[in-house]
Amino acid sequence: MKIPTVTLSNGVEMPEIGFGVAALGNGKAFHTAMEAALENGYRMFDTAPFYENEAEVGEFLRGCGIPRQELFITTKLPNACHAYEDTLKAFDTALEHMGLDYLDLFLIHFPVPSVGKYHEAWKAMEKLYREKRVRAIGVSNFQEPHLQKILDTGEIVPQVNELECNPYLTVRPLCNFCAEHGIRVVNWFPLGGPREPLVPYPMDDFKVLLDDPVMLRIGAKYGKSAAQAALKWAIQNHITPIPKSSNPERIRQNCDIYDFTLTPEELAEIDALNHDRRLGPDPNTFDDMEMG
Ligand SMILES: NC(=O)c1ccc[n+]([C@@H]2O[C@H](COP(=O)([O-])OP(=O)(O)OC[C@H]3O[C@@H](n4cnc5c(N)ncnc54)[C@H](OP(=O)(O)O)[C@@H]3O)[C@@H](O)[C@H]2O)c1
Repeated sequence: MKIPTVTLSNGVEMPEIGFGVAALGNGKAFHTAMEAALENGYRMFDTAPFYENEAEVGEFLRGCGIPRQELFITTKLPNACHAYEDTLKAFDTALEHMGLDYLDLFLIHFPVPSVGKYHEAWKAMEKLYREKRVRAIGVSNFQEPHLQKILDTGEIVPQVNELECNPYLTVRPLCNFCAEHGIRVVNWFPLGGPREPLVPYPMDDFKVLLDDPVMLRIGAKYGKSAAQAALKWAIQNHITPIPKSSNPERIRQNCDIYDFTLTPEELAEIDALNHDRRLGPDPNTFDDMEMG
């Protein structure tokens, strides 16, 4: 199937659904998943140095037989590389690892406010963009104050903000702020993330989004799963999900969401599941320098 595209603020076409490759490793499971993703029409791939498969994503996609211009490849700037020159070097390193001569999207992975150099990194991102070494630039995990600082000190408005977001964490005010500035939201943990809390973020009253009776009921009404309902909710909210799966059937299922439309009442019912349940790190305080 052909996944539709959305037009970013700079005119670049980005697939409406991407394939996240975190936690897929770089061995047999990774190859099986990548093959299933390509076969089912995914063309956007989201990696990062931290996922330990950046090089394998590049190698796989270079050899997959699909013309480069039909692929949309994203990677990210490590937290330890926010100084201007370090950002430029990290970009070169990413291209070298992946064996590519340009990227479709380069993101600052986290703002790391305690270091306070993300606006410096942004200047370097702007240079890379102007030199046409990357087709779109953006940020990830940026909250409103971090975006505001980029808007105040930068010259190019980020085209994307990649956020933890799903029906349990709708981050509506931040999504509205992004929409007002023409910044496309991409959502990570679109299916609610792992089935148990992440170490080291324990949580009482943990719930699994995909087991939520509301998600199951709304999905079932259309002959779909809770996962498909969650992905459709994102798309109907102008958000680009990047679900990951290691399972070919679930990979197929996650883009088989174009034959139904959630009603306004169903969208509102899903919105009402929000309880600001964040499983990943708090972007306001997160400063792990190994990450990126
Ligand atoms: N920018 C950032 O800071 C950041 C942070 C974290 C993640 N990400 C990106 O977001 C992507 C997605 O994150 P994620 O995989 O952790 O969370 P997710 O997409 O919410 O998926 C959670 C789990 O759901 C399972 N699943 C997938 N499809 C399913 C289906 N149709 N039915 C039932 N279960 C299904 C998967 O397990 P199976 O493999 O067993 O199917 C997966 O591990 C990552 O791969 C990465 O690219 C970005």
